[in-house]
Amino acid sequence: SAIINVMARAAEKAARGLIRDFGEVEHLQVSRKGPADFVSTADTKAEQILRAELQKARPDFGFLLEEGGGFTGKDAGTRWIVDPLDGTTNFLHGLPFWSISIALEKEGEIVAGIVYEPVRDEMFWAEKGAGAWNNHQRLRVSGRRKLDESVIATGLPFKGRGNHADYLPQLQAVMAETAGVRRFGSAALDLAYVAAGRFDGYWESHVQPWDVAAGLLMVTEAGGFASEIGGGRNPYAGESVLAANSHLHLLLGKVLRDASAKSKPKAEG
Ligand code: IPD
Ligand code: CA
Ligand code: CA
Ligand code: CA
Repeated sequence: SAIINVMARAAEKAARGLIRDFGEVEHLQVSRKGPADFVSTADTKAEQILRAELQKARPDFGFLLEEGGGFTGKDAGTRWIVDPLDGTTNFLHGLPFWSISIALEKEGEIVAGIVYEPVRDEMFWAEKGAGAWNNHQRLRVSGRRKLDESVIATGLPFKGRGNHADYLPQLQAVMAETAGVRRFGSAALDLAYVAAGRFDGYWESHVQPWDVAAGLLMVTEAGGFASEIGGGRNPYAGESVLAANSHLHLLLGKVLRDASAKSKPKAEG
């Protein structure tokens, strides 16, 4: 559709700069937003390109930009939610797993999204009611129904981010039940891979709207299910995400919630 085209062309343009920078990461200026939370000139340049391209195509839409500090334009009810470089830590280490994520939100609902992976040139996109796609190939979440056949992606806390003590029991429980856990380092791409049936599920806490807005639409448009880990129905407004096919979503949700409950001191009474 026209709107997907706008997002895809903007992402491809920003990606050309990112690919150049990826080839010479030693020349980038890097600063920190937290103890181990990095932002580089690659992030900010890509964000400027995306903002300019999207604004040119749809002058009235607002913005929520990771590096732009939540800037909102004219129409706050219709806004782009943009992560110009999801996987900055990978990028700065020369690890080829990072992406650009753009979602379009209307009155609180995500109606379209793309996650572009420049290194492999994979353009994942989804539009509400029109399915999820990788270029021209329709996406479907995996059909696996057993945890011990499933590979589950996650995001690990790091220095200064996340509740490490709460996370470890979850990781331990999922490790014990599944065929494997992966930490690839781009939440947006993790979700696109769930939509594509490559990962059977994904969970993470302390994510932001720009990490997951596009990817969550992909999962649901690919026939999957997404919620907060606690079961809350609005993962995009909450801080934690659990996504999988509906069967595994149920099983994983129970494993995660049981692990958290066991690790917490029992209530008195
Ligand atoms: C990060 C990535 C990572 C996730 C972190 C995010 P950034 O985004 O999505 O996979 O574990 O929580 O902050 O900072 O590289 O855009
Ligand atoms: Ca970041
Ligand atoms: Ca991100
Ligand atoms: Ca980012």
